[in-house]
Amino acid sequence: MKELDEQSDPSVVLAIASQKGGVGKTTTALNLGYALARRGWRTLVADADPQGAIGLSLRRKGPPGPGWVDCLQKGLKVKEVALRTRLAEFDILTFGGDSSAQLWKPVEGLFESSALRSFFDEAKQHYDVIVVDTAGGTYGPTLAVLRECDSVLFPLQAEPLALRSVTQILDVIGVLRREGSHISIAGFLLTMLSPDDPTSMSVAQECWKLLPSELILNANVPRDHAFLRASVHGVPVSLLSRRPPRVSAVFDLISHEIERRIGLVRMEEPDEPIPLLD
Ligand SMILES: Nc1ncnc2c1ncn2[C@@H]1O[C@H](COP(=O)(O)OP(=O)(O)O)[C@@H](O)[C@H]1O
Ligand SMILES: [Mg+2]
Repeated sequence: MKELDEQSDPSVVLAIASQKGGVGKTTTALNLGYALARRGWRTLVADADPQGAIGLSLRRKGPPGPGWVDCLQKGLKVKEVALRTRLAEFDILTFGGDSSAQLWKPVEGLFESSALRSFFDEAKQHYDVIVVDTAGGTYGPTLAVLRECDSVLFPLQAEPLALRSVTQILDVIGVLRREGSHISIAGFLLTMLSPDDPTSMSVAQECWKLLPSELILNANVPRDHAFLRASVHGVPVSLLSRRPPRVSAVFDLISHEIERRIGLVRMEEPDEPIPLLD
């Protein structure tokens, strides 16, 4: 967990990563980012996945527009490129460039350490937290992001062999730290947990038993059709309907836990009750 000290930069870059695809990274990035913004943190969700999952489903009309690649390649400013949302604290930065799968190779080199460092420095002037959605695996842009981020959250799908990927990812983080990265582990988040499925539950039990409590979040993400529907519409689950589905509360719990784990603290404001009546 991140050490707190008065002098340190209070903004945090939190990567969402995993060895595998399809474990709930994009779902976590979007829903956690939205929940953090609702708690008042100026939040940017930035898409480092060349397949551009967030950007693809998000825009309802018009051309894709510039994104992260264009900031790195053409020096565009993050605040000019990021998409505003209905929530003042919540912006989204798509992958940008030409994110069609065949054409992303040439931009991979853009995600290198010094360019990313200056990008994050600039973004930290505007946002309290930058949640970075990554592509599965630990190479290319994902590895570069891991090297330069402050913290990483690993969604862990509750399915057999989940624990095997824990060892692999911890090894990668160990290597990065030995090479000088300051990355710290925010934790593992169990996703797609099915309480009615004995296999899913036994995997979860195993994770809770074997992983130290500082490595695994108390909250988890149940398997729920609402997440699938929300991803089709490119919205966080709490915006799926006027009366949000029950599972939307899950990311309120997760964001609360994550704040503490990544050292997101409010320096300036006294933490006092807000008067109910003006
Ligand atoms: N908790 C969940 N319950 C049901 N479906 C989910 C859940 N989390 C993610 N999904 C769905 O599973 C698919 C993969 O999730 P996604 O977040 O895109 O994973 P990743 O980014 O790791 O590839 C998506 O179609 C998504 O809507
Ligand atoms: Mg994804």
